[in-house]
Amino acid sequence: MSVTIIVGTQWGDEGKGKITNLLAREADVVARYSGGDNAGHTVRVGKDVFKFRLVPSGILYPHTTCLIGNGVVVNPRTLIDEIEGLTERGVEVSPAHLKLSDRAHLIMPYDAITDRATERSRGALKIGTTRIGIGPAYANKAARVGLRAGDMVDGKHFAEMVSAAVMAKNVVLEHVYNEPLLDPAQVVKEYTDFAVRLAPYVVDTSVIMSEALRDGKHILCEGAQGTLLDLDHGTYPFVTSSSCVTGGALSGLGFGPQHIRRIIGVVKAFQVRVGEGGMPTELTDETGDLLRGTGDQPWDEYGTVTGRPRRCGWLDGVTVRYAARVNGLTEIVVTKLDILSSFETLRVCVAYNYRGKRLEHFPANAKILAECEPIYEELPGWEKDIRGTCRLKDLPSAARDYVRFIEGLAGVPATIISVGPGREETIIV
Ligand code: GDP
Ligand code: IMO
Ligand code: MG
Repeated sequence: MSVTIIVGTQWGDEGKGKITNLLAREADVVARYSGGDNAGHTVRVGKDVFKFRLVPSGILYPHTTCLIGNGVVVNPRTLIDEIEGLTERGVEVSPAHLKLSDRAHLIMPYDAITDRATERSRGALKIGTTRIGIGPAYANKAARVGLRAGDMVDGKHFAEMVSAAVMAKNVVLEHVYNEPLLDPAQVVKEYTDFAVRLAPYVVDTSVIMSEALRDGKHILCEGAQGTLLDLDHGTYPFVTSSSCVTGGALSGLGFGPQHIRRIIGVVKAFQVRVGEGGMPTELTDETGDLLRGTGDQPWDEYGTVTGRPRRCGWLDGVTVRYAARVNGLTEIVVTKLDILSSFETLRVCVAYNYRGKRLEHFPANAKILAECEPIYEELPGWEKDIRGTCRLKDLPSAARDYVRFIEGLAGVPATIISVGPGREETIIV
């Protein structure tokens, strides 16, 4: 009986999908606990590439039970599309294999409208959200006016709830956002169809978790987003609206901390961010372009969900230290080490300079972060392709030193090093 939690240590897109899929081989249950279809988790198996948004990345193994926990907000249309897409590709996604928490909140059509309208109204202070209604859905959950997956099971009552919710939100859409009204009957029809499709998947996933733990099963919790996007610990207000840290796994799935054995922080070997907000190590020069890639390769740094180019820069060690602390990491995984192979010299930020003062701890204030300048240490590069490497001892010594340097920042060992997008392009330490 044990639980492994995977969390992103940066601003998302660290390679959580690849690592989840890799570790899912040994898992009985793979569970998503936070976020929604703002996540894009890429898994490459041979020539096949899967991009998961709501379905856990463990679904490719027939032996796993996959859970979408209560901490996730679910756009039913995206989930149905994802189930259909996977089914067409021969992946079994039956209700026996995939289960949706009855307590997970649903994203409604007015949420995306509200997201876009709010972003517009913020002007220069926009967050750069994925504009698909994530924030408004969590806001409705907190305001206690949300609809939940469990509501879909009672068709007649669900139709009444949807109709009432749309009528209530129409007042806001019209008078606050000056947006066209939604037709309650049309939304009821659409969501009633979704309910028929998804009701068989709806269960109390916390019961499944507890039964699995009782039976000595291994559970893998798949984080979405990353520590710096967390609603509490991230770069507020430039964050998402869910709890993406270790604590979010407990509340987002409904189990106790005594079961946790491993907390794995996924660290990309350099820094990326999509959306607005401070990023001390951002590089807007040729080095940044080199880290991003031109878009020719599927792993180049362009958003999975929105296609936006990701902002890139040298690894920020202050954020690695911070993520180790707020998540209680027991180990790290370093991904995309291969991307650094072309550099003669590498830089890692070890502290910030804020108005002449050295900051070792990640600041809470977005304005302070925006003014922080990175204090770098330089490390030698290895200038050798490492993609085929599968043993630690075969890595160039400079690459091993780079990983050791990150371990020093995190204060925990690196147990996996990823040197390519494929499952086999991985060094298990
Ligand atoms: P996630 O959201 O954390 O799951 O990360 P994404 O899937 O959004 O982004 C990571 C991208 O990097 C994907 O295209 C992965 O296939 C790719 N990737 C993961 N690990 C590696 C690696 O070690 N090297 C390279 N080149 N690509 C990787
Ligand atoms: P995965 O799981 C990278 C970012 C958005 C935006 C901010 C708020 O693939 O790592 P939201 O739509 O959530 O309200 O947007 O959060 N964001 C992500 N960035 N990876 C993600 O997920 C993200 N999910 C949200 O770009 O800056
Ligand atoms: Mg992603």
